[in-house]
Amino acid sequence: MSQIREKAFRLTDKEFSFICQFVYQSTGIVLNNSKREMVYRRLTRIVRERKLSSFSEYCCLLRDNSEQETPFFINAITTNLTSFFREKHHFDYLLSHELPQLILKNANRKRIRAWSSACSTGEEPYSIAITLYKALKPYLSSWDIKVLATDIDSEVLAKAKSGIYAQNRIEDLPEDYKKRFFHRGIGKNSDNVKVDSSIRQLITFKQLNLLNGWPMSGPFDVIFCRNVIIYFDKPTQLELFERYYEMLAPGGLLILGHSENLGSYQKYFINVGRTIFRKPE
Ligand SMILES: C[S@@+](CC[C@H](N)C(=O)[O-])C[C@H]1O[C@@H](n2cnc3c(N)ncnc32)[C@H](O)[C@@H]1O
Repeated sequence: MSQIREKAFRLTDKEFSFICQFVYQSTGIVLNNSKREMVYRRLTRIVRERKLSSFSEYCCLLRDNSEQETPFFINAITTNLTSFFREKHHFDYLLSHELPQLILKNANRKRIRAWSSACSTGEEPYSIAITLYKALKPYLSSWDIKVLATDIDSEVLAKAKSGIYAQNRIEDLPEDYKKRFFHRGIGKNSDNVKVDSSIRQLITFKQLNLLNGWPMSGPFDVIFCRNVIIYFDKPTQLELFERYYEMLAPGGLLILGHSENLGSYQKYFINVGRTIFRKPE
């Protein structure tokens, strides 16, 4: 039986397999043996915090007290890597192509909606909101323009809502973006920046497990689904693509991450750019 030995704890095959099953059922994330070290590292912290003496006890706790323990478990297991203007070409496409078109297309409704559907610590929705602000500034006061930002992980959402980041998270942004959209803290906060309120007020943050019901009514003009479906299996991906399709306005955009694709669902969309897909009108 293979097992990881580290300090006081060991993670047996049986416990690892229980954890994989639990992750899959609660988040849709598929783990395999290559993630075993990562799972060990991330959950050891919780085992210690709960003052348990083994993973076996932790598995029992998860099973018997799942309502209370699952949120902590999910927060520990998710991978939240993100950055401002990650995969910049998506924002360039919005700024120079999509948003000028939407001004014409949505002129009657005067409404634009974007959804960052796995928003992590918020860099993605803030990047979307800054892009909307730049392209739509003259319309902001008279149009209904909003970004919905959701994630399953309550910890990253709290960070996202705060709008506060370490200064080094924005060091690669253009100077005019840094000046206009971020404010440096003072005193002991001088290493942090806060996103300007004109950007923050465009975004609503909500906790949402993509596998559960989606309470919002849509339709969305743009949906970001980046670097999340890669963690799911094919049936879950297909089910989600179908649901994203339903949530999009005709002509709306679904934007995936750099290593993701629509697989067999591609035929329902038009590929208009690198990992940018348009629902036909
Ligand atoms: C790697 S981050 C991607 C962040 C951002 N979209 C980007 O591309 O920079 C993946 C995010 O997906 C979230 N996630 C994982 N499973 C989820 C689920 N079932 N429902 C909603 N969010 C989920 C994680 O909490 C994590 O914040």
